[in-house]
Amino acid sequence: MRAAIAAHDAGADVVMISKLHPTRSHSGAAEGGINAALGNAAEDSPETHAFDTVKGSDYLGDQDSIEIFTREAPGDIYQLENWGAFFSRADDGRLAQRPFGAAGSPRTVYAADITGHVLIQVLYEQVCKRDIKVYEEFFAWQLVVNDGRCQGVVCWDLLNGGLKTVGGKAVILATGGAGRQYRATTNAYACTGDGTAMALRAGLPLKDMEFMQFHPTTLFPSGILLTEGCRGEGAFLINKDGERFMKKYAPNALELASRDVVSRSEQTEIDEGRGLNGSVMLDMRHLGAERIIERLPGSRELSMTFAGVDPIYEPVPVRPGAHYHMGGIETDSDGATELTGLYAAGECACVSVHGANRLGGNSLMETITFGRRSGTAAAEWSLSHTTVDVPESVERDAERQIAALLERESGERPWKIRNELGESMLENFGVFRREEKMVRQEELIQQLRERYKSVHVEDKGNVFNSDLTQAIELGNMLDTAWCMVQAGIARKESRGAHARPYDYPTRDDATFLKHSISRWADGRPELSYKDVRMGKWEPEERKY
Ligand code: FUM
Repeated sequence: MRAAIAAHDAGADVVMISKLHPTRSHSGAAEGGINAALGNAAEDSPETHAFDTVKGSDYLGDQDSIEIFTREAPGDIYQLENWGAFFSRADDGRLAQRPFGAAGSPRTVYAADITGHVLIQVLYEQVCKRDIKVYEEFFAWQLVVNDGRCQGVVCWDLLNGGLKTVGGKAVILATGGAGRQYRATTNAYACTGDGTAMALRAGLPLKDMEFMQFHPTTLFPSGILLTEGCRGEGAFLINKDGERFMKKYAPNALELASRDVVSRSEQTEIDEGRGLNGSVMLDMRHLGAERIIERLPGSRELSMTFAGVDPIYEPVPVRPGAHYHMGGIETDSDGATELTGLYAAGECACVSVHGANRLGGNSLMETITFGRRSGTAAAEWSLSHTTVDVPESVERDAERQIAALLERESGERPWKIRNELGESMLENFGVFRREEKMVRQEELIQQLRERYKSVHVEDKGNVFNSDLTQAIELGNMLDTAWCMVQAGIARKESRGAHARPYDYPTRDDATFLKHSISRWADGRPELSYKDVRMGKWEPEERKY
């Protein structure tokens, strides 16, 4: 939505295509806040924000993109505020900022613990105000590539059925993540890597696919996010003996170490028998009822509804869950991809500001800052080019593919393959990674892809055929998961969220201070590497 607003304001004729009604997008599930160096709670600067982001990325983030990001973030926050985002306030009336993990200053602006929800409403109002046409409940399926440039998207109309092709001089992918590749995830059912897979199949490079972030506090057993804001407000993590175990792993930052560090600490406690039924506990009792009700009302409600626990009185069971994919479609800092006319922003893109590990609060900000930049850049390109040409053959080919899927009368159901993918990704490509498990996972994905060739869609109808779209989504998850695991096997070091404590326990800058690049070639991903764009910060050991 931020990209669409920017493109409209730059003079372009814009339409949005969305699998869901826009306010149901998964960004609405972002809870704890959005990072910008406003300096309202303590001294801060874009430079400090940039350094924290570089260090948090385990030095894999591109430093020029990071500096653009942290420099432009404050202006973007004030823009949101002027549009009506009701951020929480400090006593002096300025925007309140809370501490988040691995941040050198309290810089996370928030609206209680429903920040994403608030931003989505505000952006949707701006979309409506501009009369931007929204094709909602349209499933974007294939890019139209003609004459060496992207000229539209082939979609499936979820409400009425049938293919609809939307032509355009430029396309911006903002399709979010793919956390549904994992059984335990904070991600909504819609997060299936659709845009990333579309770009992959169009021959575009995906970057740093091996890096999947595990959020340390997802509710046990549902996997629903409990915001880092709980720890920002002072919550402790304890094991079954009541020990505040982060003292052992990150004596200075404690619960506010970076997410990769906290997730690994929790997993170690669980694996070594100090957890409770596969979880550890998030203890908020000492914060007191008043603070919990004022600052963390959503977290309290989620805990009561989905874990049967009121955090005012009892600790809440949590465990690490797949949360955010640092990898994605390679873009420059204006969201431009290698394919003329195609842009990407947000979680599906890799711009790359997060490198091997993202800081909490940086993703909402990324969607806004790079959404705006990509919208402006796509509009500028569109306004200086005149033609759109969608060959008829594009839709005819797509029709044939859909017909083949719908006409199949037997085969395996998508949910079976999807469940096996989710279970095995968690087991073999989770918080800690072992060579033999990753190799097994790569073999398994190839077997699942073979089985997927005869996947059976039972529902042959047109209206809300979620059986059909789930089959397509499954194909997207399988292909992108293959890229992830292949890149993970090849990265023989530990960096950020890619932890190989059993064979390569340390970071190897001499060999692996570089981005992995995955491209689809001859029916499989092909891996290569590319230099990280360094700047003033040389790699150092990360200590929290
Ligand atoms: O914990 C959270 O509120 C999540 C924020 C984020 O992933 O940036």
